Amino acid sequence: MSGREHLHDSVRDTLSEGWKKHFASRHRTLREEGYARSLDHSNERCQLQICAHLIEAAGPLSGKALLDAGCGWGMTSLIFEACGARVMGVDIVPDTIAALQQGHPLVRWEAVDLTRNEAVQELPMFDVIVAAEVLQYLGASTAVARLWTRVNPGGRLVGCIPNADCQIVKRVVEREVLQWQPESVAEILRWGRSLPDVNDVKIKPLDFQSDQKFLPYAAGPWGADVQSTANRLVFVLLRK
Ligand SMILES: C[S@@+](CC[C@H](N)C(=O)[O-])C[C@H]1O[C@@H](n2cnc3c(N)ncnc32)[C@H](O)[C@@H]1O
Repeated sequence: MSGREHLHDSVRDTLSEGWKKHFASRHRTLREEGYARSLDHSNERCQLQICAHLIEAAGPLSGKALLDAGCGWGMTSLIFEACGARVMGVDIVPDTIAALQQGHPLVRWEAVDLTRNEAVQELPMFDVIVAAEVLQYLGASTAVARLWTRVNPGGRLVGCIPNADCQIVKRVVEREVLQWQPESVAEILRWGRSLPDVNDVKIKPLDFQSDQKFLPYAAGPWGADVQSTANRLVFVLLRK
């Protein structure tokens, strides 16, 4: 059993509260430092390169209903909105959501704890759900299964998560005080393929380059048989 399905509700709530406090403070710092700075990715270049792969994975966006799950300071949400999607961004930090509601009324922003099933079930249905750099805080398999119930037929769910088979990521797992769960290719394929009405699962590895002058990551091809120790995994679940 992976994810947080085995956790007692009170433990799950304590973890959610812990991450909420962590990100509330981080979002405040970012606000003071400037909006365009990176969120939790190692730097802004990583964040932007990941965003480019998310856009590729999301497919055509004009007029599509898109959920940015764990939107943080909303950069990805705003980029998807600029690409023509009708975007809703949700995050656990209410102050950040309130600031986004004030500053960017074209996107619908809501404070939602994605570990709470009732809250997720109250969300509308979406053509595309993007969960970038958030699943490691939620327990990926449980959170994706929950979000999957909000994906329309023919839609897709796009994720980006640290790779459990990467040495750098393993060191982060050892050092984190709160639960922080990366995923491996094998696990994503296992739980991804077991979801109802899944048509296909594709994964793209993003590996840190030794020379990052041009780009921080070397991106592998989209596939299902990816053998990888890459730092990040971008994945897509396509719904029948
Ligand atoms: C590393 S940031 C990623 C933000 C954004 N998706 C990006 O890629 O730039 C993780 C975000 O997940 C949010 N988060 C953590 N736990 C959450 C939860 N239980 N429900 C909703 N959002 C959560 C945090 O507040 C934070 O903004």
